[in-house]
Amino acid sequence: MIFVAGSANLDFVVRAAHIPAPGETVLGRDFKTYPGGKGANQAVASARAGGVPTHMLLALGDDAFAAPLEASLQAAGVVRHIVRVSDQATGTAFICVSDDAENAITVAPGANLSLRAADLPALAGFSHLLLQLETPIDTVAAYARAAREQGVAVVLNAAPAQRLDTDLLALIDVLIVNQGELAVLAQHQGSIAECLTRIAVPCVVVTLGAHGCCARCDGVFLTQPAFPVKSVDTTGAGDTFCGVLVAALGQGKRLEQALRQASAAGALACTRHGAQSSIPTQTELAEFLAQQPDAAPAQTAAIRTYCGLTN
Ligand code: RIB
Repeated sequence: MIFVAGSANLDFVVRAAHIPAPGETVLGRDFKTYPGGKGANQAVASARAGGVPTHMLLALGDDAFAAPLEASLQAAGVVRHIVRVSDQATGTAFICVSDDAENAITVAPGANLSLRAADLPALAGFSHLLLQLETPIDTVAAYARAAREQGVAVVLNAAPAQRLDTDLLALIDVLIVNQGELAVLAQHQGSIAECLTRIAVPCVVVTLGAHGCCARCDGVFLTQPAFPVKSVDTTGAGDTFCGVLVAALGQGKRLEQALRQASAAGALACTRHGAQSSIPTQTELAEFLAQQPDAAPAQTAAIRTYCGLTN
């Protein structure tokens, strides 16, 4: 069983030809709201695509934005532990998605900043606690410490990017980052492999967009080339990767297999609009994976070269 503690946001999404530069106004189209927030996206991915019983601790305001967030978690089968906050609005995110599927996101955390150490229930029966950085860092650290004390593996998706102190890193079993987050954490100009080696966590996974992903676990490097898809919206793809990776690890799968499943789920999420709305079901994921050949030697060589690993 997986426990996710973190953020839930209502995403206000507009599509546009390109993401505005500072000071620029662009005319967009197709405005919609979607359930989002890194924590809630990851919980939905663990339950829906990963097929693993999943609980989530989240904080919501006492307002109309909360209802669609609760409904989406419920529809995915996530068991909710909700802290209701009366003096803060439910978290929101303002997202511009460009026609080449990239996005720019500004989060107004609101109620997400109200999560406190005392809100975490006992974790008996859970294999992994999955955390992100859209809630207060002291709370993240307290949850990681509580999980470590209870023998629950701690997985941190260090997003949005920020530097982390060594006390917090020492509580993490698996760290998941994208390339920008890796650079912030490693504070190093060298190769991806070198950056992964500089982070004092036993297992570090970096997602590399269209290149794939790379993990350094207990000194061993693993790579997974990306599955080619036609992307329309990358929002939530990283969260889908995190939720499915942790669900697979919770099912006792080997890291190599977990990376393959997480990459495929993330790829599928890029082919649909929105965050939670883009996360595939377990059946869709299995069907997609069944159609994918094993990585060709040239693909593996390409990602190893990209990461600075000697082939
Ligand atoms: O990772 C994507 C998510 O980031 C969005 O759903 C948005 O709410 C922000 O939290």
